[in-house]
Amino acid sequence: MIKVENLSRVYRRSRTSPLRPRAEVHALRDVSFEIEAGRRFGIVGESGSGKSTLVRLIAGLDQPTAGAVTFDGQRVDGRSERRLSFLRRDLQVVFQDPTGSLDPRMRVRDIIAEPLVAQRIPGQAERVAELLAAVGLPADAGRRFPHQFSGGQRQRISLARALAPKPRVLVADEPVSALDVSVRAQILNLLSDLVEQFALTLVFVSHDLSVVRHVCDTVAVLRSGELVEIGDVEQVYREPRHPYTRQLVQAAPTLRGALSGVTAADLISERKRP
Ligand SMILES: Nc1ncnc2c1ncn2[C@@H]1O[C@H](COP(=O)(O)OP(=O)(O)OP(=O)(O)O)[C@@H](O)[C@H]1O
Ligand SMILES: [Mg+2]
Repeated sequence: MIKVENLSRVYRRSRTSPLRPRAEVHALRDVSFEIEAGRRFGIVGESGSGKSTLVRLIAGLDQPTAGAVTFDGQRVDGRSERRLSFLRRDLQVVFQDPTGSLDPRMRVRDIIAEPLVAQRIPGQAERVAELLAAVGLPADAGRRFPHQFSGGQRQRISLARALAPKPRVLVADEPVSALDVSVRAQILNLLSDLVEQFALTLVFVSHDLSVVRHVCDTVAVLRSGELVEIGDVEQVYREPRHPYTRQLVQAAPTLRGALSGVTAADLISERKRP
């Protein structure tokens, strides 16, 4: 469904002095892989490893320096926004910070309906009601504004908006990192349930391999913009081939404790609750 071929992205920073050469950041170096329909594809790596750069390129929100991105056989890179309408409907993105991605002046129902309005899809009111229920928000949430909700609820609103145009692919870039530790497991479980319910293909970014293991079936490990390992998530977790992946596996419990506070056990016990 998604094919990434020899993808590279170099950012050129502005000069600090006219005498110095322009600093270049190789955010992504010659990355290739494929994501089949129905996969839950995780992208893991430490801060600055190129995860967000990669998903921006897949989502057609940035242009590669070299290489190609294909969605369902159609080239994504090098297209004008007008010719990306197929992707704007079929692939939706949820970002890390729900506050920054929700317009504070818009009512929740209008935020959720926005992609429907943009793509002239009818039946908006019913669809909004359906989506509010699907993400576990009360029916009257539509009349309210984003600031009247908690961080976790705002991420539910982002998920509802992403699902509005019935996408086939959901891309989530660290969707719980900005949230309070206490609600992370809830939102991750909701995300997993929605992916299952709507038979979505998931592209999920996290710095935490243990969270990827809970949510995904396949994982790609990025380090300094390079793809160092890719495969079945259990296989990679149990028998990491690259020394860097081994480090990530060993760091996973402490990362969980220090950064995310979510343990696999929390997630599993949370899912079992009615
Ligand atoms: N617009 C930009 N201009 C210049 N450099 C950038 C830009 N965006 C990203 N970079 C650089 O590219 C590299 C990869 O960044 P990226 O945001 O993709 O990493 P990441 O894996 O998502 O990190 P994090 O876990 O912190 O979100 C970093 O060195 C970053 O500083
Ligand atoms: Mg990022």
